[in-house]
Amino acid sequence: MKKTKLVVAGVGHVGSYVLANAMKLGLFSEIAVLDKKKGVAFGEALDWRHATALTYMPNTSVKAGDYSECADADVIICAAGPSVLPSEKDEMPDRAGLARTNAAVVREVMAGITKYTKEAVIIFITNPLDTIVYIAENEFGYSKGRIFGTGTMLDSARLRQLVAENYSIDPKSVTGYMMGEHGFTAFPVFSRLNVQGFREKELDSVFKGKEPLDREAFRQKVVKTAFDVLNGKGWTNAGVAEAAVTLAKAVMLDEKSIYPVSATLHGQYGYNGDVALSIPSVIGRNGIEQQLEIELDEQETSWLHESAKSIQNTMASVKT
Ligand code: 2OP
Repeated sequence: MKKTKLVVAGVGHVGSYVLANAMKLGLFSEIAVLDKKKGVAFGEALDWRHATALTYMPNTSVKAGDYSECADADVIICAAGPSVLPSEKDEMPDRAGLARTNAAVVREVMAGITKYTKEAVIIFITNPLDTIVYIAENEFGYSKGRIFGTGTMLDSARLRQLVAENYSIDPKSVTGYMMGEHGFTAFPVFSRLNVQGFREKELDSVFKGKEPLDREAFRQKVVKTAFDVLNGKGWTNAGVAEAAVTLAKAVMLDEKSIYPVSATLHGQYGYNGDVALSIPSVIGRNGIEQQLEIELDEQETSWLHESAKSIQNTMASVKT
């Protein structure tokens, strides 16, 4: 059987959770772990080698390594660079505050990766996500569609969970997503929200919600919930790691699943190569196989442009 390989670059709180999920997924025969702190990469890999002796673990070969591991990788998940931290001064610290530091990190990581491959599908988690994806996609001549970021897939999971909680139903019965920036200006596509056939306007009367589905209030609630996690435990990792590994699975199994992920737009909503943000996209063996331009209503369209502007401001701050 053909070998299948994942590289996890950066194994802090987020990358180590990605590694754990990927080890349990059983879709990779080999996983290589990279980190600036060599001891951390070594320790993570060894810890997981111990785990493979236990009953339900797939026998994935896991080792620490360097960028040369990328040469035969199918997928690379990058969580390198510092994450947003709780702040005493600010209940909702802006991910954009990491732009300078992590722009340098992504440039270093991409220089390392592209010495060995321009074919592996790269999934970014590093914040500020959309700016990081834009740099990676546009400065290294990488194969088209093969770089994208978890983007609002995480915000969408939060949206679905909050809608479900409001109406006391299962989040898996809620279809819907957030688009735009993975950040303060992310917005729910309310006009497409669907609970097993019931649409936005019907939800309050059908399901007797705890609160009425007020668009702006709900949008803020979804954006804020990231900080409820962050200020509670000091970091966020479970949701985003699940998103990244779900995307890796969609690539490995050539699923053609549709997820809202971040990549540079090529003509959608009037943007052409000048911003990366999340829109629903078809994910398969080649990474992003199609970016979908769904019709938005007037308020959603204005939210989209607000989001693009916010990302472009951050992008401008890290231009070379
Ligand atoms: C998150 O939304 C902080 O971007 C990170 O969980």
